[in-house]
Amino acid sequence: GNEEAIALFLVCLFSIAAAAAAIDRNKFPADFLFGTSTSAYQIEGGYLEGNKSLSNWDLFTRIPGKIVDGSNGDVADDHYHRYIEDVELMHYLGVNSYRFSISWSRILPRGRFGQINQNGIKFYSNLIDALLDKGIKPFVTLNHYDIPQELEDQYGGWLNPQIQNDFGYFAEVCFEAFGEKVTYWSTLNAPNLVIKMGYMKGEYAPGRCSLPYVSCPSGNSRTEPYLAAHNVILSHATAVDIYRKKYQRKHGGFIGIIMAANWREPFTDTPMDRSAASRALAFEVPWFLDPIIYGDYPPEMLQILGSRLPIFSIEDKQKLQTKLDFIGVNHYTSLYAEDCLFSQCDSQSTLEGYGFAYTTGEKDGRFIGDNTGVNNFYVVPSGLEKMILYIMKRYNNITMFITENGFGQDGSSNPSNEIRKELLNDRKRVEFHTAYLSSLLEAMRKGADVRGYFIWTLMDNFEWSNGYSKRFGLYHVNFSSQERTPKLSAKWYKEFLQSSAELC
Ligand code: NOJ
Repeated sequence: GNEEAIALFLVCLFSIAAAAAAIDRNKFPADFLFGTSTSAYQIEGGYLEGNKSLSNWDLFTRIPGKIVDGSNGDVADDHYHRYIEDVELMHYLGVNSYRFSISWSRILPRGRFGQINQNGIKFYSNLIDALLDKGIKPFVTLNHYDIPQELEDQYGGWLNPQIQNDFGYFAEVCFEAFGEKVTYWSTLNAPNLVIKMGYMKGEYAPGRCSLPYVSCPSGNSRTEPYLAAHNVILSHATAVDIYRKKYQRKHGGFIGIIMAANWREPFTDTPMDRSAASRALAFEVPWFLDPIIYGDYPPEMLQILGSRLPIFSIEDKQKLQTKLDFIGVNHYTSLYAEDCLFSQCDSQSTLEGYGFAYTTGEKDGRFIGDNTGVNNFYVVPSGLEKMILYIMKRYNNITMFITENGFGQDGSSNPSNEIRKELLNDRKRVEFHTAYLSSLLEAMRKGADVRGYFIWTLMDNFEWSNGYSKRFGLYHVNFSSQERTPKLSAKWYKEFLQSSAELC
């Protein structure tokens, strides 16, 4: 009734006014990119349409028990058919950029083999045109987790060095088709997560484990994760090389890599936990960035893993000379780190991949921050500033984009009306972004060269092993009707980007 509407209006007014007081778009440079992020498998659907072939995620989601709600990305947000409407949603928000990824199996259904799929090229070219038409700059990720299944079947995907050239070929097809219109390219999204989740824990495609773990009790191989990472790093270098030689000079764009970059805080203020935190950090971003920028694995890793880390040959090192133009930072949370190298810890097969540091957001009743709706994601705004300053220092004030930052809600794929109402009134998400943006400004005041901020995500979508049970969207999606509804946070983002005070 009326009273309810007034109450909702007041809540809305209060939260938006409070947020607006704290943070203001004008504090950022005028050409700063503000956008939303998505990825192909999480939103597109149309999994067999227009001659697309199966990706490794199309197969992985079919394995019983891998996805909590047994779902998959066959339809997802049906963005393949609704991209025009989705560009409208972004236009409503007033963003000046949009980060999305290209499905390799839509462009090259057979990976490396066979023909270029013109339907796939057409889909992304239409999307890019629709964005440019609204003044939204495309920020394109070449690979966000999904690769053609044929590459897994033929030669084991990232485990085989052949993927370096094949990824280079795929990148070239994309540069050729879209290079004229796209200024910002990223080679890979969060390869550190792909390795940890896909080759150590078995929870993402291709579902391999290093040591025995709940998802694959017998384990697979202790060297595989490092080998796959090695091929990922050199695949990045191959794509950058092609871009630099043939496209960058012509079109004048930028190319980088995106890393999952969550902060680690020592659980106790002791030398042992402090060094555990710095090892855990080194096994996160520097694992990939030290080789790309300095030509070899971080000393923190070499010390622990020794000869189990692959060696960069002279030829490889030459390839790595191409480096990158920016680092994309995906930041969600901070976690405590506890020493497990010199101390006894609960046995956990993935500790090794985290520098023998046990990381957690809650221990002995101490919480690092407020809980979000997603396991192990805590609200710790200062962690973003710390992470940015860490990267700035280690990589000589390199250019950064915050390519993902977001707040996950717990919510089923088909919530009741009551729950839907709560999901729409996402005050906590508004507070989250306001606080993280302040932390970002602090890092920029201290000299960090950050040039953009992308909210994960435009609309609720397929959240990998969590299926549709976790919602990160600014827009609520009803997965039965595909209806998109702006949440309070969408209205907040719009207000923030306009820096005007028209409320709710
Ligand atoms: C990072 C990933 O890049 C993205 O695909 C995922 O949905 C978000 N984190 C939220 O977990």
